[in-house]
Amino acid sequence: MLTNLRVWLNHFEYHAEQPRGARSGSPSGLCTEERRLISRSIALFQLGEQSDGTGLLRAAYRFALAHGDELLPRITELFIREEQRHARLLREFMDEHGIRVKCHHWSDAIFRRVRRLAGFELYLHVLITAELIGNVYYRALESVTGCQRLRVLCRTLIADELAHVGYGSELILELRARKPAALRTWIRLLHRAFFCAAAGAVWISHRAVLRRAGHTATGFLRVCLEQYAFHLEPPAAWVGAQRPTPGGVSVPVSVGFGERAAPQCPAGASTGQPRAPDRGQ
Ligand SMILES: [Fe+2]
Ligand SMILES: [Fe+2]
Repeated sequence: MLTNLRVWLNHFEYHAEQPRGARSGSPSGLCTEERRLISRSIALFQLGEQSDGTGLLRAAYRFALAHGDELLPRITELFIREEQRHARLLREFMDEHGIRVKCHHWSDAIFRRVRRLAGFELYLHVLITAELIGNVYYRALESVTGCQRLRVLCRTLIADELAHVGYGSELILELRARKPAALRTWIRLLHRAFFCAAAGAVWISHRAVLRRAGHTATGFLRVCLEQYAFHLEPPAAWVGAQRPTPGGVSVPVSVGFGERAAPQCPAGASTGQPRAPDRGQ
């Protein structure tokens, strides 16, 4: 049985009742040039956040049955609901700003196909890949806009995703610790390779936004890998020991990222954004 499921159930139940807000009173102000820059990119992420979650839920039920983790299906339901809320929040923002929805993209199709290949554990690996890279992206998106509404939305998504990463990494490390050392090494190497490929795919599809945020291709990969190492390659002493979990309290938004002031985009202006210093160097 997995160790901290009760803590995570409390966390997801609390946030189902008190969802982090992204709408209330945040003024908009997406200028024309920003809209042009982010439209395709944000539509792709909205597509990625969108899922009915039936495959994941089925995998969670099967895993719970096999391992006696009866809380897991309920946690998974709440987790899926939170992801669907992300898709809804992004969709609302896009609708408000006349950004068209995307229905299909090759990178999204690959992610969906890979996670259907096996059981719950593989789902966890694919999900955490998307979440770790997604958080680097949302931080970049936040940094290239002066639109307060979009900045609050990015921070909301990052806060939720950090908790998801905490949950996913804890499960992955606990399950991994039960395997023989050689198998653990193989899983880690394969996942790292998949993670690098996924970060490369995100770079290709979102490089306009990422470059504007100051990333180079290698710099972006390095920041993503730092996040990977922080969450999935913790010091040996943490694995199987009392690792910090959110436990129903808010997760700090800024873990692992540098803070940077947002560019100012005057209302109605369509000027270029100042280029940020290259974080990848
Ligand atoms: Fe999400
Ligand atoms: Fe997530």
